[in-house]
Amino acid sequence: MALLTKSVVILLGVVAHQVVCSIDTCASLVTSISIPNTTIIAHNYLPNGTNIALPGTVESCGGPDLTVNSTADLCRLVLVVSTTASSEVQLEAWLPDPEIWNGRLLATGNGGIGGCIDYATMQNGAGLGFAAFGTNAGHNGSVGYEFFLNQPEVINNFGHRAIHVEAEVGKELVRQYYGTEATKNYYAGCSTGGRQGFQNANLYPEDFDGLLLGSPGINWLHIVASKGILARRIGWPFLNSSAYVRPEQWSAIVEAQIRQLDPLDGVVDGIIDEPTKHRFDPMSLACGAGVLNGSMCLSPQQIESVRKAYEPIASTSGQIVYPAFELGSKTDVFSENQKNGTAQLSYTILQDFWRGAIYNDSNWTPNSFSESDMDFALETNPGQVNADDTDLSSFHRRGGKIISYHGRNDETVTSALSEQFFVGVQSALNLTLEEIHDFYRLFFLPGMHHCSGGLGAWSIGNAQKYPYDKKLLDPDHNALLALVEWVENGAAPKTLIGTKYENDSMGGSIIAQRTYCPYPIVSKWNKVNDTSLATSWDCVLPEG
Ligand SMILES: *[C@@H]1O[C@H](CO)[C@@H](O)[C@H](O)[C@H]1NC(C)=O
Ligand SMILES: *[C@@H]1O[C@H](CO)[C@@H](O)[C@H](O)[C@H]1NC(C)=O
Ligand SMILES: *[C@@H]1O[C@H](CO)[C@@H](O)[C@H](O)[C@H]1NC(C)=O
Ligand SMILES: *[C@@H]1O[C@H](CO)[C@@H](O)[C@H](O)[C@H]1NC(C)=O
Ligand SMILES: *[C@@H]1O[C@H](CO)[C@@H](O)[C@H](O)[C@H]1NC(C)=O
Ligand SMILES: *[C@@H]1O[C@H](CO)[C@@H](O)[C@H](O)[C@H]1NC(C)=O
Ligand SMILES: *[C@@H]1O[C@H](CO)[C@@H](O)[C@H](O)[C@H]1NC(C)=O
Ligand SMILES: *[C@@H]1O[C@H](CO)[C@@H](O)[C@H](O)[C@H]1NC(C)=O
Repeated sequence: MALLTKSVVILLGVVAHQVVCSIDTCASLVTSISIPNTTIIAHNYLPNGTNIALPGTVESCGGPDLTVNSTADLCRLVLVVSTTASSEVQLEAWLPDPEIWNGRLLATGNGGIGGCIDYATMQNGAGLGFAAFGTNAGHNGSVGYEFFLNQPEVINNFGHRAIHVEAEVGKELVRQYYGTEATKNYYAGCSTGGRQGFQNANLYPEDFDGLLLGSPGINWLHIVASKGILARRIGWPFLNSSAYVRPEQWSAIVEAQIRQLDPLDGVVDGIIDEPTKHRFDPMSLACGAGVLNGSMCLSPQQIESVRKAYEPIASTSGQIVYPAFELGSKTDVFSENQKNGTAQLSYTILQDFWRGAIYNDSNWTPNSFSESDMDFALETNPGQVNADDTDLSSFHRRGGKIISYHGRNDETVTSALSEQFFVGVQSALNLTLEEIHDFYRLFFLPGMHHCSGGLGAWSIGNAQKYPYDKKLLDPDHNALLALVEWVENGAAPKTLIGTKYENDSMGGSIIAQRTYCPYPIVSKWNKVNDTSLATSWDCVLPEG
């Protein structure tokens, strides 16, 4: 298979209609395709299972040794779309053979600062028969700032344009390749991909019929800024200051939170089901309190730091703009902030985006980051990257559907943000719960980290995770299929069943399953049966 790929890859670098090739249907159909501002730079026919080498991929996107395999007999195209005189977007199209095409389009988004094609979601989609699309969001690479320096149009692509371009070019490509429009158009993404989807529903409501949006980084600038502000709250970058809480102390702090708060949801499983409902007093970990030994316990200054670490974030004018960091979550922002004894955040997006898109300064560091740096970014909002507009009325009116999901153990985008956004949309559109549930359902997954992973039964057909479990390819267990069922048959998902696999090896042996419910309905143990069975969990609407 791998040998076949190499010989079939044809890098042309010329416009599509000049391609003359007859080795297969893919090639001959490609010759007739013509889309404004769009150049097909490569095409190849890939039988199911073919290894695709992607040597042009930059290191931060997994290159140059990245390979993915095709998941259907398909025609793969690589396209460049010129978006302005100074910007372009690279797209991939995976077009299953007409006989196995399910008649639908699936577009995908990005993660972090963008720049990497989401092959995992494309593989899942093409495997199910979707015409699947991916985008680099207008630049290559998930680390770096040079691509944004002095490039407002590149920032516009990342900020709000890339998904719209993908939708438009994707639809046209489907029309020309299959000779008919897709019956329905879908989008799936997580993190930045979740943000891109919500923003698309707000700005370009006609693009998609259904959106699957995981762990969405909706107020993107506040999320990224929070990393700097929270780090500063624990004494960073002054690693020797008495207020600094050392990396090794954080696991003890989180363990104490779990010990104290996990039982309150009725099941002792290491998972705090609803972390936003609780407070945590770090006094219990003070030196002398007898809980932690002399090398791990918290000094009075450190207690103050930990207390502040879990407070929400306010703008310089005092308005709360970001909810509190999640209790019980991994603590990357607090515990991964030095390299070789020097202060440096492992989270690179803050430095990259403020250097390249906010301050136009290649030497800027977040070491003195404050609320004014956050507010300044919000004022300029380059590329309209902050996407917290709750007005989804046009998308709602046209009958679009949204399934969103968010881990309750999210160390990157605090899950309270999804709660706030949901309530914000409900209020902006003046909808009853029944009415908002008719187009937008939000599922919280206790014990899931950012987008995937964690102690919980987190596998629900997540975006960005390949492969889907073939044994669970149904709307009860797979959120993408649940979305299709809702859009096309009007059956809204009452629940989603999540699965926990041994070693998180998807499709492997199942350790536990749990039933999840659309917010504000919560998943509660029935107090009778084995907690590792989905049927032992009921959907309960909290009182009040
Ligand atoms: C991104 O990388 C591809 C090769 O994979 C290249 O064709 C394209 O020009 C690059 N785009 C930008 C904006 O650098
Ligand atoms: C960014 O800074 C460079 C010099 O460091 C300057 O030439 C350029 O005009 C600046 N661009 C913007 C958009 O301010
Ligand atoms: C921090 O403390 C270490 C060890 O106590 C010392 O070697 C280092 O010089 C100190 N750094 C600063 C910036 O004070
Ligand atoms: C203190 O506790 C930590 C774990 O809680 C342990 O790894 C360490 O060895 C202990 N140190 C001492 C001096 O007892
Ligand atoms: C870490 O710091 C030491 C001493 O300053 C230096 O010798 C070493 O090369 C550094 N390692 C890395 C990975 O930067
Ligand atoms: C909101 O909807 C209710 C009916 O569900 C209606 O009575 C009320 O006037 C609406 N409020 C606004 C501000 O539109
Ligand atoms: C899971 O990981 C453990 C420890 O690495 C290993 O012993 C076990 O065989 C793995 N199970 C599977 C199904 O891969
Ligand atoms: C749950 O427990 C009840 C009572 O013990 C039992 O009747 C029922 O069959 C159990 N259900 C499952 C799915 O195990």
